[in-house]
Amino acid sequence: MNNVVSQLRDKASRLNKHIILAEGDEPRTIKAARFLVDNKIANVTLIASLQSIKKSQPNVSLEHINIIDPNEDNTDMVNLLYNLRKSKGMTEQQANELAKNPLYLAALFTQSGKADGMVAGAINSTGDVLRPALQIIKTAQGISTVSSCFIIALPDYSPYFSKNSLLFMGDCAVNIEPDSQQLASIAIASANTAKQMLGVEPKIAMLSFSTKGSAQHQFVDKVVQATDIVKNLRPDLQVDGELQADAALIESVAQLKAKNSKIAGFANVLIFPDLQSGNIGYKLVQRLAGAQAIGPVCQGFNKPVNDLSRGCSVEDIITVVAITALQAQN
Ligand code: ACO
Repeated sequence: MNNVVSQLRDKASRLNKHIILAEGDEPRTIKAARFLVDNKIANVTLIASLQSIKKSQPNVSLEHINIIDPNEDNTDMVNLLYNLRKSKGMTEQQANELAKNPLYLAALFTQSGKADGMVAGAINSTGDVLRPALQIIKTAQGISTVSSCFIIALPDYSPYFSKNSLLFMGDCAVNIEPDSQQLASIAIASANTAKQMLGVEPKIAMLSFSTKGSAQHQFVDKVVQATDIVKNLRPDLQVDGELQADAALIESVAQLKAKNSKIAGFANVLIFPDLQSGNIGYKLVQRLAGAQAIGPVCQGFNKPVNDLSRGCSVEDIITVVAITALQAQN
């Protein structure tokens, strides 16, 4: 286990938070729940019938793990769902049906305060995990865009970075085509995540295929506008754009392309202009450079919600639950 992961788990274990796992009979999830409870990283509830959990992992003890059967009477949660969504046209019958969906039920338990946060995504797509949370938990006060960022732990042999270097990359998982306002929100939220989660002082680079006017295009204009919005909204943050990735990260390139920038060459929070570049970008770093990608950490929800990759390991689930517990503290 690397340094960042053990830091996150250690911090979470001091909080005693209660996290609900919607995919309660998924084999990796059950093993993760056992580890989380045994190691006191979080209290855990699995959503699934006892029978299906036992069938999925007959040899894993369920001692001190809470279980909620989605087919049992959850009238309180049905009422909560109906009240939250009736203005959007939801009927009582629809609420009754939808509340049997574990992803909706997990969001409802979290929204009601019966759990401190929810995690899912080992067998469901990002869209299916986030949609119930967007509808039920919604965004935190003053925040209009839910987004995400990855914590990227670079490998020790990286030619450009020192040992234990961390980068934060957003948004690689949620917003497909953010406008300049949304891009600014992603940058601010990712900087907050860097600071709150791991105490990193954020230096934000707003990425593009252009550095400081080297190319002209509406895509570049969007990044420049987003940079200005961040500067206006959060004058306390260190941000610059538009910057190409090499100018953002490598001092010698920054000297050539963005001599006067205080961020270029030193950026540790990289904001991609859209989901295509973000999702492709983080996966290239993960697979070609052997970096560890922790997350995606979802940002901006009113209560913590996190999505797993369907290729996740038991270890990944444990870490994402720890992150969720830490967000519950904030
Ligand atoms: N922030 C805040 N609110 C939002 C956001 C957002 N980013 N997106 C949607 N909403 C709100 C809507 O306003 C709506 O609210 P309302 O129903 O109360 O009026 C509600 O959430 C649901 O909106 P929908 O339009 O039904 O949701 P949508 O179908 O747009 O889904 C989603 C949102 C799931 C996040 C979508 O943007 C999406 O699929 N993103 C891409 C996810 C993905 O495939 N990522 C790549 C894989 S992840 C990986 O590789 C790590």
